[in-house]
Amino acid sequence: MYLTTAIDYANGSPHLGHAYEKVLADALARVQRLKGEAVYWVTGLDEHGQKVQQAALAAGVAPQAHCDGIAAGFQALCGALDISHDDYIRTTEPRHKAVVAEILQVLYDDGLIYKAEYTGFYSVRNEQFVQPKDRLEDGTWPESYGEVVSLTEQNYFFALSRFQDWLIAELKARPDWIFPAFRRSQVLEFLKEPLNDLCISRPITRLSWGIPLPFDNEYVTYVWFDALINYISVLGYPSGPLFAQHWDSAVHVIGKDILVPPHAVYWPIMLHALKLPLPKQLIVHGWWLVRGEKMSKSTGLRVDPMELVAAYGSDAFRYYVLREMVLGQDGDFSQESFDQRYKSDLGNDLGNLVSRLLHMIATYCGGVIPAPTLREAPEMALEAFFKQTIKEIPAAYARLELHKAIEETFSLVRAINRYAEERAPWKLSKDPHAQAALNTTLATMAEGLRLAAVLLLPVLTQAAPRILTLLGQAPSAPWSAEALQWSRSCLTGAKVGEKPILFPRK
Ligand code: MSP
Repeated sequence: MYLTTAIDYANGSPHLGHAYEKVLADALARVQRLKGEAVYWVTGLDEHGQKVQQAALAAGVAPQAHCDGIAAGFQALCGALDISHDDYIRTTEPRHKAVVAEILQVLYDDGLIYKAEYTGFYSVRNEQFVQPKDRLEDGTWPESYGEVVSLTEQNYFFALSRFQDWLIAELKARPDWIFPAFRRSQVLEFLKEPLNDLCISRPITRLSWGIPLPFDNEYVTYVWFDALINYISVLGYPSGPLFAQHWDSAVHVIGKDILVPPHAVYWPIMLHALKLPLPKQLIVHGWWLVRGEKMSKSTGLRVDPMELVAAYGSDAFRYYVLREMVLGQDGDFSQESFDQRYKSDLGNDLGNLVSRLLHMIATYCGGVIPAPTLREAPEMALEAFFKQTIKEIPAAYARLELHKAIEETFSLVRAINRYAEERAPWKLSKDPHAQAALNTTLATMAEGLRLAAVLLLPVLTQAAPRILTLLGQAPSAPWSAEALQWSRSCLTGAKVGEKPILFPRK
């Protein structure tokens, strides 16, 4: 799988939405790797265009220096969230600019880019011409357009409209191309109206911060046309070995606001015009709201992922966003729900289990995991529950139901806790005749915990390897049938580590 996220605009620092998208793609990449499948996964920064030029101007720095600062912030976020990407592409890098120029020239030479005059209404904020039909009844424009002005310009256009029928047929032939499925209907709905050709240039008199058109240096490239190309420039298109190796298996993770038209209309048509295959899938997530409201610069409503990570750790952040958001729908952030998940799921259910178990193995068994000599009703019930539930987890990931996969994994953790309550090893330890039951209980709990930790590897990238190490195991294990099977012997004799505090009280 070749996995990408949207590349973030370099016009502000990262917020919860940017962080979520990276964690989501990272978890998917880790699942792939655990299943033994090769993954190449990239993210990056979208550095050109009006918004970035304006942000740099407002900050009083040159655009490149401004972007360098923003890039450092986004890259620090990736580090803080334990993102395991293979490359990070910035659209001001020469390797990207060269590919954009080459593609423009090819399309120009093929007659698919042409010059024309255009008069229309232009949204300064969105950097695009808007349609008269979008006007509200009172004659004003939707607030999201910002200032709208009338503009006449000579510009270059990409012949999108020529490919409209092709695109509709393609979409109809690929029912699974967009996840979730209901989003495909939105695209088809959009395509019921005739497509306009796409204006892909901006006169440098109006915007200088962009990639110059190779055939006319009075213009720079429209930022979306430039940005989408990152998905292939980062692979070294056209001749790089990574491109040959990975493009066929591309999966783009994006937010719902950038599906129509950029990813579902411009991008497939650009690829088709270049005689390239389409990506295999678009995974479209919803938006994070904060108490039901959109985050925005103007209202100041904003959740800073770096602050959360600094206070609770990367695992807590990753766990919260993946467990709380149903992929494809909108999600709601609140500090209370974050605290609640941290305290009850991570602290009580998982953290206490680990420290309690390690403490008991240290105290009752000299720090060595004993052999489970008995197999009575409580053990059989736990094993059966594990067997049934474990089957569901990789399947839920494959269906992109990450919240479900995590919920199921935590049901395993809770089942171990219930089993421990039932067997009450702290009582068994006081009964000299109950040695076999005590050993069996601790060994059974340890095996359950091993399996839960293996299944938590894509999410809890710090705690899961740590738990495995504390159980005397390698920090990672593939999701092979063997590693995911309940074993009565694989931990026997392993020396455990000292009890940790994985999720300290806040
Ligand atoms: N630069 C373009 C993408 C170009 S891709 C070739 C862009 N950048 S962005 O910074 O505005 O958004 C980056 C990603 O973050 C998008 O996928 C967007 O949907 C996502 N999010 C931005 N705000 C969000 C939330 N509040 N919630 C979840 N994700 C959201 O668009």
